[in-house]
Amino acid sequence: MDSKLDTTVKKLGSCPLPSPIEAPYFIEENQKVLLHAELHLVEEHLCKEPRMVESFENAGPRRNIHFAPDKTKVAIVTCGGLCPGLNNVIQTIVRHLWHSYGVKEIWGIPYGYEGLNPKFGHHWVKLDPDLVDDIHDHGGSILGSSRGNQDVGIMVDTLVQKDIQILFTIGGDGTLKGASAIANEVLKRGLDISVAGIPKTIDNDISYVDRTFGFETAVSVATQAVKGAHAEAKGYKNGIGLVKVMGRDSGFIAAYAALASNEANYVLVPEVKFQLEGPKGLLDHLEKRLERKKHAVILVAEGAGQEYFQKEKTKDASGNLLHEDIGLYLRDRIKDHFKDKGFPISMKYIDPSYLIRSVPASADDAVFCIMLAQNAVHGAMTGKTDFMVGRLNNYFTFIPLALATSHRKKIDPKGYLWTIVKGATGQPEFS
Ligand code: F6P
Repeated sequence: MDSKLDTTVKKLGSCPLPSPIEAPYFIEENQKVLLHAELHLVEEHLCKEPRMVESFENAGPRRNIHFAPDKTKVAIVTCGGLCPGLNNVIQTIVRHLWHSYGVKEIWGIPYGYEGLNPKFGHHWVKLDPDLVDDIHDHGGSILGSSRGNQDVGIMVDTLVQKDIQILFTIGGDGTLKGASAIANEVLKRGLDISVAGIPKTIDNDISYVDRTFGFETAVSVATQAVKGAHAEAKGYKNGIGLVKVMGRDSGFIAAYAALASNEANYVLVPEVKFQLEGPKGLLDHLEKRLERKKHAVILVAEGAGQEYFQKEKTKDASGNLLHEDIGLYLRDRIKDHFKDKGFPISMKYIDPSYLIRSVPASADDAVFCIMLAQNAVHGAMTGKTDFMVGRLNNYFTFIPLALATSHRKKIDPKGYLWTIVKGATGQPEFS
């Protein structure tokens, strides 16, 4: 069936070899997962000509594979900011390749894409099940990471020189764009190298997936910060607990931590502008709340309220705009507001910062990481390339990297999640 979105995953060639894995079932190439789970959306598409229902390839093991396990060399790279679950994914890729497929040459690339550029002199690490045995108990990545891309030609030259057949790239939007560039250069040169992505980011801002790994853990740590802020706020008359959490351009961590704690009174995210001053502004509402309840909790995502800063923005090595510190700004504006009014408050500012992403994966994320990593291995062994694995509507799917990185996922201010957040906090529109 035709599709509006190009969901076709590229393949390096045929799959002449029977899969060595023992699976209770194999996925057929024509098995698809629908993008929309709601019947009316499916029907809407079916009424149109040509009939188009958007769908993605089911992930999972295939009966036949492309790469001969005893001749296949694999490399794994982790890029961008740290994220809970990186080590879990590395561990599962190694174990699954080794034990299920019989691939015994697996290399770890140090410090992100830098490790694919010889000029940095990073030495690759040979990985095996013993070496990765306990790594899931630790935060961070045993391979290290770096931000930013390297020259794509040099990176492909390195893969060729090391005789690599499969490259697993674990990272967010920038990493996956880099992976796609590598995959396309490989195809242009007619090489037989598969490039597979595993979407990682605590920000949960990758499109066409239910969530990225690391997000759930980050939310649970951020939730502890909100609970701490609530205890502090309630502990003093006119106490204000102000928490700033990561979330560069998408406010999912703040939104979910607000719901998980159910103690935030105000949630500020990059997707929804807010006024500070005036009768409809945050400061006025906060003042009325303090008069009534004597405490308040404010949760702000780092990318929120950037319109309050005039300074020209610089970019990080990944090309992301570096934001000004909205947490400190709000803290000072709130303090000044109440000082001017002679209204005594007790401000407690909490910034859990890197703590929410440097911890080991939660139980739920750990399970998710295994599922993602095993499916990435299945896809790569069949010679799929320029793709990532993800979960959509509770099914694991293969998604072309170009589509996954076409736009960042954001909170829809008119959508379900934001409506739920507003319902839970009782906050108005500050505009
Ligand atoms: O990984 C995404 C993220 O957590 C963003 O929310 C945040 O802006 C960024 O990483 C900060 O990371 P670093 O300081 O490593 O650039």
